[in-house]
Amino acid sequence: MPRGEEPGVWAVIERQTGRFLGWVALPVEAGAGRLGYRFFRAFWGHGYATEAARAVMADAFERLGAASVAADTMTVNLASRRLMERLGMRYARTFFADFPEALPGSEKGDVEYVLTREAWQALRAERLSFVRATPADAARLAAHERRVADPRLYGPPLDHDACAREIAHNVFYFVEVDGALVATAAWKRREDGSAYLSNIAVHPDFRRCGVGRAAALFLLAEAKGCARVDLVTHPDNAAAMALYGSLGFAVESRKEDHFGDGEPRVVMVKCDRGVT
Ligand SMILES: CC(C)(COP(=O)(O)OP(=O)(O)OC[C@H]1O[C@@H](n2cnc3c(N)ncnc32)[C@H](O)[C@@H]1OP(=O)(O)O)[C@@H](O)C(=O)NCCC(=O)NCCS
Repeated sequence: MPRGEEPGVWAVIERQTGRFLGWVALPVEAGAGRLGYRFFRAFWGHGYATEAARAVMADAFERLGAASVAADTMTVNLASRRLMERLGMRYARTFFADFPEALPGSEKGDVEYVLTREAWQALRAERLSFVRATPADAARLAAHERRVADPRLYGPPLDHDACAREIAHNVFYFVEVDGALVATAAWKRREDGSAYLSNIAVHPDFRRCGVGRAAALFLLAEAKGCARVDLVTHPDNAAAMALYGSLGFAVESRKEDHFGDGEPRVVMVKCDRGVT
């Protein structure tokens, strides 16, 4: 049991009352995370463990860059096993540890469950919905803009009117998880039949878990049939450059002051050779 001073250990506190409900731990070493938790019996069955474990799992994959997260429990501890399954973890093995004192059921050994980064990304992507925005959603987009704006690499936040225009002039999507706005993505077909992708911007809390890739793939699927698909990004935007490069986009040209903000931009193009 952790003492609470180790890295990756969190106290779980009930928001309304400030009560200490239990703890979750998810230290990550060399890309391997190990999830543990324990809650006071009075607080079992309220979903607290699921909520807390989900939060530290997201932190391990998104912030700490874990490649996998494992957890173990006694084979007979069905409640704990169900929690691991709810988190998307998969049974990996049964093992027999040398415990000094036998507990009822310990003769059945322990089970280990694992969730890989790829499976986590797929789980997140599966829960995404793409909801078509209308100009009446400008305020919601403006709030998102304030979270994702980056004056140099992406752009300053658009104000309310600019948001309404952006929605009106594109096929504009809100990317949602359980109703929460996690990203935007838009495209338009030009008169010459080519497609322009824009507004792919992921809420900082949801980055590095496959949302940007899912959004770009969704737009590419919509723009299928367009012989040319292009977009504009900042050459120092390492995340965007890597994402689009991995989807088959290549830099076509560079302009030192493309949007008039004094920053360089590159035009990246994907020609009709299928999507990876
Ligand atoms: C660029 C952006 C959309 C990526 O979204 P994301 O959801 O974090 O990306 P994903 O998790 O889908 O990652 C897809 C790939 O992008 C690349 N990538 C994402 N973040 C990265 C980072 N910080 N550094 C390097 N590569 C990164 C990786 O190749 C990654 O694949 P991998 O996870 O298999 O290594 C996101 O960082 C963002 O919204 N940035 C601010 C707005 C912006 O700049 N938009 C692009 C404008 S053109």
